[in-house]
Amino acid sequence: MIITTLFSSRKFNSKLKTRWLARSLEVFDEIGSTNNYLKSLDRRPLNGHLVISESQSTGRGQSNRVWVSDPGQNLTFSFYFKPASAKRLYSLTLIIALACSKALCEIAGKEIKVKWPNDLIIEGKKIGGILVESEFKGTNVEKLIIGIGININQTEFDGSLSNATSLKLVGDKAGDYDREEILAIICKNLEFYLDEWDRDAPLPRESVHERLIGYGSYGHVEVNESLQTEPLKFVGICTKGFPTFVTEAGDIIKYRHEQIRFYPDSQLEPKFDP
Ligand code: BTN
Repeated sequence: MIITTLFSSRKFNSKLKTRWLARSLEVFDEIGSTNNYLKSLDRRPLNGHLVISESQSTGRGQSNRVWVSDPGQNLTFSFYFKPASAKRLYSLTLIIALACSKALCEIAGKEIKVKWPNDLIIEGKKIGGILVESEFKGTNVEKLIIGIGININQTEFDGSLSNATSLKLVGDKAGDYDREEILAIICKNLEFYLDEWDRDAPLPRESVHERLIGYGSYGHVEVNESLQTEPLKFVGICTKGFPTFVTEAGDIIKYRHEQIRFYPDSQLEPKFDP
């Protein structure tokens, strides 16, 4: 039998060290999806308003996939973020992934990789995912909702989630991980990177590249769900944050608004090093 301890907002608040993120909080036992809930609000929430639910009946991932998480075991939360401008929106998911990766590495003492664009990977398996959704009024961002799911104490995943793992499965801790403490650490990291991003500071490219799966390798890019035949070398993100590739002939390709995925191909020997 799995015994769960309900998420305590009191304990979380006592550990939280942010200025604006999660300073306003709603905790649900069950909800459809925390992203949907924030989207459906008529009022505009406070910047950093965070909603967490012990269970989601219609949790969503990227590309219309579902997000499944056992009740009371993990972290499934969303927050509202009002950026100063929308001009760097394309790099936001990566910045969020970097913040989560740093936080989880601090907790687990293990490297957390980022699989473009939104997967958090530990020991080759998926430990978390990010879903950023935006609504515009003209060119202004009306609502920006950042949803994050991280597997913490769940130790069994059904067959369709064979590539899933959790902190408990990979960590050295004897008992359960403290979800309130983990969320407080994640929020602290998120706030730092979001503040930097919002004040237009240079993107932390080196930190991103260190974690990015396939960085420096040849492989194949999938663009809008269509796998490209030409092998490309992933050279990370450019100063603007666009994923950048080099062809074997040395031509540079940057993807801007397309949905891309990268599949590193270890069989392919790099023939060209730019
Ligand atoms: C992905 O890996 O494709 C992204 C997963 C994002 C899941 C989180 S859980 C909290 C928030 N509410 C949702 O419905 N989805 C996000």
